[in-house]
Amino acid sequence: MPQDCTFLLPQAHSTQRLGEALGEMLPAGSVLLLEGNLGSGKTTLTQGIGAGLGIADAIVSPTFTLISEYLDGRMPLYHLDLYRLDPAAVEQLYLETYWEGWEKEPGIMAIEWPDRLVHRPDRYLHLTLQFQDLAPQPTADDSVPGRSAILRTVGDWTLDWVKIQQMLAGSSVKLGGAAGEED
Ligand SMILES: Nc1ncnc2c1ncn2[C@@H]1O[C@H](COP(=O)(O)OP(=O)(O)OP(=O)(O)O)[C@@H](O)[C@H]1O
Ligand SMILES: [Mg+2]
Repeated sequence: MPQDCTFLLPQAHSTQRLGEALGEMLPAGSVLLLEGNLGSGKTTLTQGIGAGLGIADAIVSPTFTLISEYLDGRMPLYHLDLYRLDPAAVEQLYLETYWEGWEKEPGIMAIEWPDRLVHRPDRYLHLTLQFQDLAPQPTADDSVPGRSAILRTVGDWTLDWVKIQQMLAGSSVKLGGAAGEED
């Protein structure tokens, strides 16, 4: 079974759609580390997860609140943006209380700027967003490149890659290849 999969996301809506599929299929207790430069689409993807969970509240960037909790969906969504924090400050947040399920109801935890983390859960999903000119020909607006996303499982984790690909079939999200394939 492949441990990672690349998706091509030509428009912002594609990023949202990938998030939506994850929100629909991920089990409670999932931790998603969202890597990618400024403006690469981490919050957009999280908004999609919220939609997939049936969360009606608007999901906005938690840059100043650090942790936003959305509790009106199928399960909680915990959205974190660690950009402004250094690892010592992140340690003080005791984020393991979320992923160990000690104090918080298990849900989906989406963490922007996870390079600030001192500790990581034993198993998690890692998603890397990159800017990419996906158009075969120069487009009318070259200033808006699409993105690619590499989704990878880390630790003892099995993701149903076939299911996620089926969920995205017919959408603007295209498959960019999976590790483990012969070619
Ligand atoms: N696949 C895509 N193609 C084109 N534009 C996209 C794509 N995905 C997201 N965007 C756009 O990129 C912009 C930045 O998105 P977003 O705020 O989600 O990025 P971010 O990674 O959370 O940024 P930050 O690092 O500041 O938190 C938004 O205008 C969004 O609509
Ligand atoms: Mg963001």
